[in-house]
Amino acid sequence: MSERKATIQVDSLELSRQHEIMDRIRENNEMEYAKTGKKPAMHVLTFGCQQNNADSERIKGMLNQMGYAEAPSTQAADVIIVNTCCVRENAELKLYGHIGTLKHLKRNNPRLIIGVCGCMMQQEHAVEMIRTKYRYVDIIFGTHNLYKLPELLERSKNEKYTLIDILNTEGMIVEDIPVKREDKYKAWVTIMYGCNNFCSYCIVPFVRGRERSRKPQDILEEIRKLAQEGCKEVTVLGQNVNSYGKDLEDTVDFADLLRMVNDVDGIERIRFMTSHPKDISDKLIETMRDCKKVCEQLHLPFQAGSNTILDKMNRKYTKESYLEKVRKAKEAMPGIALSTDVIVGFPGETEADFEETLDVIRQVEYDQAFMFIYSKRKGTPAAELSEQVDEEVKHKHFDRLVKLQNSVSRKLNEAYMDRIVEILVEGPSKNDPERLTGRTRTGKVVNFDGFDKPQRDTLIGSLVNVRITEVFSWFLNGTVTD
Ligand code: SAH
Ligand code: SF4
Ligand code: F3S
Repeated sequence: MSERKATIQVDSLELSRQHEIMDRIRENNEMEYAKTGKKPAMHVLTFGCQQNNADSERIKGMLNQMGYAEAPSTQAADVIIVNTCCVRENAELKLYGHIGTLKHLKRNNPRLIIGVCGCMMQQEHAVEMIRTKYRYVDIIFGTHNLYKLPELLERSKNEKYTLIDILNTEGMIVEDIPVKREDKYKAWVTIMYGCNNFCSYCIVPFVRGRERSRKPQDILEEIRKLAQEGCKEVTVLGQNVNSYGKDLEDTVDFADLLRMVNDVDGIERIRFMTSHPKDISDKLIETMRDCKKVCEQLHLPFQAGSNTILDKMNRKYTKESYLEKVRKAKEAMPGIALSTDVIVGFPGETEADFEETLDVIRQVEYDQAFMFIYSKRKGTPAAELSEQVDEEVKHKHFDRLVKLQNSVSRKLNEAYMDRIVEILVEGPSKNDPERLTGRTRTGKVVNFDGFDKPQRDTLIGSLVNVRITEVFSWFLNGTVTD
C-alpha cells in the first residue's frame, strides 16, 4: 500500500458534527454565564515538543470556541486538559505526578472535567495506568483524534467511567480546527505529521504514526491569514521537515515550500524544525541562502559522534557525512547559528564512542545543544539491546558534555559583543519591565533599552537594530541604535 493511501482525511460531515457540538456547548456556557456572571474556564497543561504545543493551541482554540475563558491555573478551571509526552521515561514519571495533584480539585469543583491526551496516551500501558490508578480522569484521547474533543466533552458529562478514545491509525490530517495562539507576532505552523525514520531509540514513530504532509495551499492559506493578523515570524514544524511532500501528489519538496512561504507578504522571518541530517540537500541549503526571510539558523540533531553508534541508532549517516553538510551550511551562510540534539549512553557506547561525540561538539561549535541521557523506551528496538550503559557512566559523560557545550555557547555569544543585530521585539523583558526583549535572526535572546514607555508599547512586534553591550551564556544585553 502506498503512503498516500494510508492518509485518512477526516470527512467534512464528521467535522461539521464537531462544530455543531461546539455551538451547543457554547450556548450552554453562555447561558450559565448570564445566570452566574462567571464564565466557565479551561486550563491546558502541555508537556513535550513544539508539536505538542501546536496541538495544545488547537485544543485551546476548540475550548475557546465552546465559550471557555482561559483560567490562569488549574485551580480556577472547569476543564483541564493535560497534553502528554513519552519521549523519555522522566517525561512519563513527571506526568503521573502532575495528574496526581489534580485529584483534590474535583472535591472543590465536582463539575470539573479532566482530560489526558497526547503521545503518552498512544501507548496501551499508560492508558491502562490512568484508567485504573487515576480513576478521576474523565477523558482519554490520543494524538490522531484531538478534533473529537467537543464530542468527548459532551459525552463525558453523562458518563460514570473514564471515556477512552484512541485511534491506532497510520495517521490522518485534519484541517479547519480553530486555533488559539500563544503569541501574536510569532507562530508555529505544522506542515507535516508523524515520522517514518524509526531511529532505534525513539518512540515518536509509534505514537505519532506515519509521515503525512499537509497540502501546500492549506499551509500557505494559514500563513497568509497569520500575516494579515499581524504575525511576523513563522516556525514551520515537522519531525523531519526534509521529507516534506514525499507523500503528496504534487511534486513539491521542502525547499519549494520554503520559497512559497518566503513570498507571503507581511511575514518577515521564517524558521523550521526539525531537519534530519540524512535528508538535508544542497537544494535546501541554497534555498535557505537565497530566501531573505529564512533565518540563519539550523537545528540539525547529530545524536552521537561514533559511526558504530550512529549505525545502531539507525540514523543513516556517518560522522563524516554529517560534518560535510555542516561545512556546506556554514559556507553558504557565514554566521549561521547551529543547534543540535545529543544522546549520551546509548546501549554499547564506549569511552571512545563518547569521545567522538565531544569531537563533533568541538568541531561544529553549536550555539545551543539539547542534551539527553539515553532512556529505554518499551517497544523500540534499542530497548532489546543487552549492553545497556551503567547509570553512573551515563551521568559522568553527560556532565562532561554539558560543561563542554556551555563553554562553546559562551564563546560564540562573546563574538556578538559590539555587533549591531536585528531584533524582533517580543515584549517587556521578564526581569526588568523598563526594558524590551526579543530575538536575533540567529535565535539569541537580547534584552535592551533606549525607549520610554509609550514608545516601548508601539514597538512590540516590529524589527529594531540593537548594539550588543554585554554578553552572558544564555542571553545578551544591548541598546537600540535607531
Ligand atoms: N524528530 C526530531 C526529534 C524528536 S525527539 C529529530 O529527529 O531530530 C527530540 C530528541 O529527543 C531527539 O532528537 C533525541 O535526541 C531525544 N530522544 C528521543 N528518544 C530518546 C530516548 N529514548 N532517550 C533519550 N533521548 C531521546
Ligand atoms: Fe524519533 Fe528519529 Fe523520527 Fe526524530 S527522526 S522523531 S529521533 S524516529
Ligand atoms: Fe514528546 Fe510526542 Fe513530541 S513523545 S517529544 S510530545 S512528538
